[in-house]
Amino acid sequence: MSNVHVMDHPLIQHKLSLMRDRQTGVKEFREATREIAMLMCYEATRDLPLKEITIETPLAHAKTSVISGKKMAIVPILRAGLGMLDGMLELIPAAKVGHLGLYRDPESMKPVEYYAKMPSDIAERDVILIDPMLATGGSAEAAVTALKERGVKNIKFVCLLSTPVGLDTLQKAHPDVEIFTAAIDPELNDHGYIVPGLGDAGDRIFGTK
Ligand code: PRP
Ligand code: URA
Repeated sequence: MSNVHVMDHPLIQHKLSLMRDRQTGVKEFREATREIAMLMCYEATRDLPLKEITIETPLAHAKTSVISGKKMAIVPILRAGLGMLDGMLELIPAAKVGHLGLYRDPESMKPVEYYAKMPSDIAERDVILIDPMLATGGSAEAAVTALKERGVKNIKFVCLLSTPVGLDTLQKAHPDVEIFTAAIDPELNDHGYIVPGLGDAGDRIFGTK
């Protein structure tokens, strides 16, 4: 799984343990989601291209580096992906944001698209697609397809929890997409929930259950 990066940084793992705990309330869950997203954004942008510029410090001229290359967009998969958005924007404040609404049909477990609003120049941007959960992989696969249909060439997918089957599905459908995950859990239950997982991410972020 060469394009899968497991973010085993102690800060990420500590906050993820907090999120897994059923006793953790909405406020703490939401804060941990935002903080992990920020830490993962730092890693997911490690390969951004730099260009050299010359500036004047108070003392002398200096050759120094700034980010170059394509502009970025962040696309959360609604709803749960919204919980990761602010953490990402703290590190990339100039990024534009696209919204993609998908829900998983409880019977078929297949994703259903109900909303899409992208920046008009999305095809010219590198995209970080965010969703806390990669379970069967169906939602992420459909989201990447929806972005590619709009002309996006370079997509990274950042999630908190994933499964071997979800990673396999996404990689087979879109081998060009780099995947960043905080942990790979062993299995899915009969309802397609990640086990041991953290429950329903959307419900825990928004307090809807
Ligand atoms: C969850 C999650 C992913 C999807 C993952 O969303 O946030 O989008 O399920 O499952 P998959 O990999 O099997 O497709 P859900 O459909 O529960 O919608 P929500 O974010 O609105 O709660
Ligand atoms: N969606 C969630 O929110 N949690 C899971 O475990 C699987 C899909």
